[in-house]
Amino acid sequence: MEKYSIRGGKKLYGEVTISGAKNAAVAIIPATVLVDGPCRIENVPKISDVTSLLMIMRELGANVKLINDTTIEIDCSKIRSTKAPYELIRKIRASYYLIGSLLGRFHCAEVGMPGGCDFGVRPIDQHVKGFQSLGAKVDIKNGFIHCSAENGLTAANIYLDVVSVGATINIMLASVLANGQTVIENAAKEPHIVDVANFLNSMGADVKGAGTDVIKVRGVPTLKGGSYAIIPDQIEAGTYAAAVTAAGGDILIKNVIPKHLECITAKLAEMGAVIEEYDDSVRVKRDGPINRVNIKTLPYPGFPTDMHPQLVTALCVANGTSIITEGVWENRYRYVDELKRMGAKIQVDGKVAIVEGVEKLTGAPVRAWDLRAGAAMVIAGLIAHGVTEVEDIIYIERGYEDIVEKLTQLGADIKRVEYPDEEEVREAL
Ligand code: UD1
Repeated sequence: MEKYSIRGGKKLYGEVTISGAKNAAVAIIPATVLVDGPCRIENVPKISDVTSLLMIMRELGANVKLINDTTIEIDCSKIRSTKAPYELIRKIRASYYLIGSLLGRFHCAEVGMPGGCDFGVRPIDQHVKGFQSLGAKVDIKNGFIHCSAENGLTAANIYLDVVSVGATINIMLASVLANGQTVIENAAKEPHIVDVANFLNSMGADVKGAGTDVIKVRGVPTLKGGSYAIIPDQIEAGTYAAAVTAAGGDILIKNVIPKHLECITAKLAEMGAVIEEYDDSVRVKRDGPINRVNIKTLPYPGFPTDMHPQLVTALCVANGTSIITEGVWENRYRYVDELKRMGAKIQVDGKVAIVEGVEKLTGAPVRAWDLRAGAAMVIAGLIAHGVTEVEDIIYIERGYEDIVEKLTQLGADIKRVEYPDEEEVREAL
């Protein structure tokens, strides 16, 4: 097994290049099921969630070729199965996009119920409502979701009861080949929703309004292959911006869309960071104190829920008390106990966390509870006095490409170290 060992106290300087967006990649890869021909996808991040999805695609009968480090070609012309195996599916939340894609193309899908980070209850009722509105029969049993529409799918007007990224994308996928014009109201507006719509349009779909809360999908008979480059990862970029705000220093974050980062950098500026935007890069520096702030997470363009653990960590050493309100998930504060073991003063009451700034954090062994909580532990390690060891890094590597290498290049003292797992310890006794 491996963990990260971080000796804190180094400021960050230099340049970091952001990879392709995880949340776009994990939707675009299943979306290729809808396309009758080879899709060349560029700027694909090298993360384990992508690897798991590519394995599932191969299992379904897709022809998957790695063209180079960040470019893949997927040809789903000869898909032979509409059943996605549970063993692979359970590892990643985004595998549920296969339901929309398989249903859209073959009018039939059998997909294991999705896994992913545990933020409390993660319902999929809005996805189901969308599929049913399009005319599918949906049945959830024995850990699988079965969907079928013997007579094909027919366009519908669908009003989402909650703003859901997953449901918006899944309904878009299911409706691109349906008969007529589907309207999704109260749609989510995240940058990766626009990216999925752009991908589908570049393959011949007719999707309008992505990025607003009304998306119109006019069904087309087929999608043909083509080439598409995934947008840069908003949350990876935000994580490095949060890291330099927490640790101090001056870094240039390259390959970003600054507009997508504004909801994050606005808050970092309030915390005392200096932000300079360029065409496709952002410079973030911080050398004064960290100011206390209040944060409420909301769907885009609000402050992203996937960034709050990283900012909470920086606020642990701010000059005052900050209040964080989680507006999307029920239970996203499990990592707080790890920060407390490093000396943080945080009280959690339901969806609210009160963070009282302390002078310093001290290194400790901690674990990554989930992907973004794991990134928060790494940032905690960067600012703590002494050594922090982060276990369960498997969660971090689901979504951050080469995080050790990228931070090392910025001057951080972080290493991946091996340690014996339970079985090896037992054998040694
Ligand atoms: C996606 C992101 C995740 C991010 C989240 C919110 C991916 C792979 N994951 O997750 O990193 O934290 O958006 O920005 O892109 N809800 C329902 N019924 C549903 C669906 C959702 O009630 O059918 C609720 C959820 O419980 C939650 C809220 O809607 O409270 C938002 O969920 P959603 O946007 O669907 O999150 P994901 O797409 O799972």
